[in-house]
Amino acid sequence: MKPAVLVTKRIFPEAVELLRQHAEVDYVDSDDGLTPEELDRRARGKRGIVSQLTDQFTAERIGRLAGVRVIANVAVGFDNVDLAAATRQGILVANTPDVLTDTTADLAFALLLAAARRVVEGHRFVHSGQWRRWTIDLLAGHDVHHKTLGIFGMGRIGQAVARRGAGFSMRLLYHDARRAPEALERELGLEFVDQARLLGEADFITLHVPLNDSTRKLIGPAELRQMKPHAILVNTSRGPVVDEAALAQALAAHAIAAAGLDVFENEPHVHPLLLELDNVVLTPHIGSASVETRRKMSLLAAENALAALAGRRPPNLLNPEAMSK
Ligand code: DGY
Repeated sequence: MKPAVLVTKRIFPEAVELLRQHAEVDYVDSDDGLTPEELDRRARGKRGIVSQLTDQFTAERIGRLAGVRVIANVAVGFDNVDLAAATRQGILVANTPDVLTDTTADLAFALLLAAARRVVEGHRFVHSGQWRRWTIDLLAGHDVHHKTLGIFGMGRIGQAVARRGAGFSMRLLYHDARRAPEALERELGLEFVDQARLLGEADFITLHVPLNDSTRKLIGPAELRQMKPHAILVNTSRGPVVDEAALAQALAAHAIAAAGLDVFENEPHVHPLLLELDNVVLTPHIGSASVETRRKMSLLAAENALAALAGRRPPNLLNPEAMSK
């Protein structure tokens, strides 16, 4: 008998077909997602779950997932899953790294450029018919090339952003809980600095850390005060890494120059003040959203789930300790 797999939300059809070759698939072919109650109900009797970042797997819910062997998240981030609780219960958890690295770095850089060069303001200006004449400082923004880029988090996406920064002849500072190997620092031209130096010296600050207890509100009022008045903040990681209200206040007061935000504290809710400001560029959590990458992420999640159900180690297993349970 084929194992039963729940797919909690719409994914690319190729991935559903792949799952169907090896599993009995309960497919929620909708973008709405399941309510917590529906998720509990549909998960009953399943061996695998292909989930998305909008599905919350708290310790309590995981406790109800009797019989589930794998949660395969269609995302690189896995802050929606209590990994420790899953491990205790012998549930394998997998994510979708690598395939989205460059795509996400592209969006971080797009936001950086758009915020610095006021691209969205320019679009609105032309589109609304306000453009009457050329003037010397019309929508003058900030140069990106040869400036200092401060990167929080030197994982795969942080490195990909550093490569883009190098292409713009930027000076590259980074901070991470763990220092990168010397060879990588040399290859990318990176300088490891403490948090205070990064905040005080960078013209652009970009966040590429996972969300956990040590990164929640990494950027709050005190950190914003340490930034240069012309600093531009970019966040494509997770919303709660930034204190959104404090950032909105800082942008409104022009305490920093601008921000480019793809992620928010309470998605899809955005702090109302951010919606009123011109010096912020907002996108709806689309860091990895190219057709190619989202297809690859869907397929990778399906492969992770199927490997676990076949008794193999999923290619992107996050909790190898759970294998032996
Ligand atoms: C992730 O993968 O964690 C992104 O936030 C969604 O692609």
